[in-house]
Amino acid sequence: MQAMDSSSYTHSLLSFVIILVLSPLASSQLDYKFYDSTCPNLTKIVRYGVWSAMGNETRMAASLLRLHFHDCFVNGCDGSILLDDTSSFTGEKNAGPNRMSARGFEVIDAIKANVEKSCPSTVSCADILTLAARESVYLTGGPYWSLPLGRRDGTTASQTAANQQIPSPLEPLENITAKFTSKGLEMKDVVVLSGAHTIGFAKCSTFKQRLFNFNSTGNPDPTLGSSLLKDLQSTCPDQDSSDSNLAALDPVTANKFDNVYYKNLVNNSGLLQSDQALMGDSNSAAMVNNYNKYPYLFYNDFGASMVKMGKIGVLTGTNGEIRKNCRVVN
Ligand code: HEM
Ligand SMILES: *[C@@H]1O[C@H](CO)[C@@H](O)[C@H](O)[C@H]1NC(C)=O
Ligand SMILES: *[C@@H]1O[C@H](CO)[C@@H](O)[C@H](O)[C@H]1NC(C)=O
Ligand SMILES: *[C@@H]1O[C@H](CO)[C@@H](O)[C@H](O)[C@H]1NC(C)=O
Ligand SMILES: *[C@@H]1O[C@H](CO)[C@@H](O)[C@H](O)[C@H]1NC(C)=O
Ligand SMILES: *[C@@H]1O[C@H](CO)[C@@H](O)[C@H](O)[C@H]1NC(C)=O
Repeated sequence: MQAMDSSSYTHSLLSFVIILVLSPLASSQLDYKFYDSTCPNLTKIVRYGVWSAMGNETRMAASLLRLHFHDCFVNGCDGSILLDDTSSFTGEKNAGPNRMSARGFEVIDAIKANVEKSCPSTVSCADILTLAARESVYLTGGPYWSLPLGRRDGTTASQTAANQQIPSPLEPLENITAKFTSKGLEMKDVVVLSGAHTIGFAKCSTFKQRLFNFNSTGNPDPTLGSSLLKDLQSTCPDQDSSDSNLAALDPVTANKFDNVYYKNLVNNSGLLQSDQALMGDSNSAAMVNNYNKYPYLFYNDFGASMVKMGKIGVLTGTNGEIRKNCRVVN
């Protein structure tokens, strides 16, 4: 009797301790089956939303992919980039790297509205953005990968952090790598994720410094191939008034997710200074050469790096909230 009591006491104490130790873990991690029972049609709804937006404008896939990157690099993947400014709140939409450049907000709104119809107050805006980025890659012909879900939405955003933490196309590779490293990523992720520039467009303002008087030398950037240079000089003829004209990040297959981005770098046809800079370091150049040769290596690594990026600073469990409208805190 005595022995049984004490062992059952020990047992329940043990269970109690185990539950105490495990439950915060169990609720604080992303999970591949997170919405399987609470929102079984989620993937379909998001895919349909991305697909119809692309039907109107193919570029939207690229814009959504970039939006997820800019969300994750500023206070983690918490949907903070989606918050509108208000009179008492300055968000990330008007930070330097996003103003007149980040796009796709209405598409996320439309997807969120459809998700709310099926599964009210269940799916975070951060997860919707993560899923939309994956569907964007898939629907432009790129790889597909499984996503752990369960992110929750942040209740703050930071314009200052967006200005400081999103990499600039004008900074050297070491600085960009340092920004990635500070998020738990590494140089390999810089090379792999830059492959996202196989789709989408950039404004003249982001690369025009390469076209006429690079580094005040009076000449264009010598690492910019001559036929692409001519095309870009005609796209961006004027240092100021043509700032918002667009050039394809991958001029060969602008709307197809493939490994041509790396083929372009190998023959000096990277658009941004930060793209071509991947050839200026022996470690990153070796990776570029590999992805140029082996598209499926790139596809696999891209999915893995996207999952890694999608885990930066996530809110889970009871942290943050499930926003009802992606533009405003509940
Ligand atoms: C490595 C550092 C990076 C730099 C310096 C950089 C810089 C830029 C710049 C300047 C643009 C053009 C924006 C404009 O003119 O409006 C752009 C576009 C784009 N970026 Fe990046 N980027 C980087 C990494 C990434 C990553 C990690 C992703 C996603 C995984 C990404 C996805 C895209 C996409 C898809 C576009 C085209 C967007 C559109 O057409 O709307 N970039 N990037
Ligand atoms: C379709 O795309 C154009 C830009 O190409 C945009 O101005 C318009 O708002 C989009 N329409 C819808 C319904 O998304
Ligand atoms: C999921 O979609 C199916 C049809 O594809 C529909 O019958 C079902 O009601 C949907 N479930 C939810 C929870 O919306
Ligand atoms: C690169 O980083 C260094 C060290 O943080 C900094 O001093 C320098 O200004 C940065 N360069 C650019 C172009 O941002
Ligand atoms: C010119 O720009 C490149 C970046 O592509 C940089 O590495 C180099 O140091 C610059 N040279 C000068 C003289 O500023
Ligand atoms: C670079 O490679 C692309 C194929 O990726 C090709 O279309 C283009 O003509 C090449 N440019 C040069 C300058 O070799």
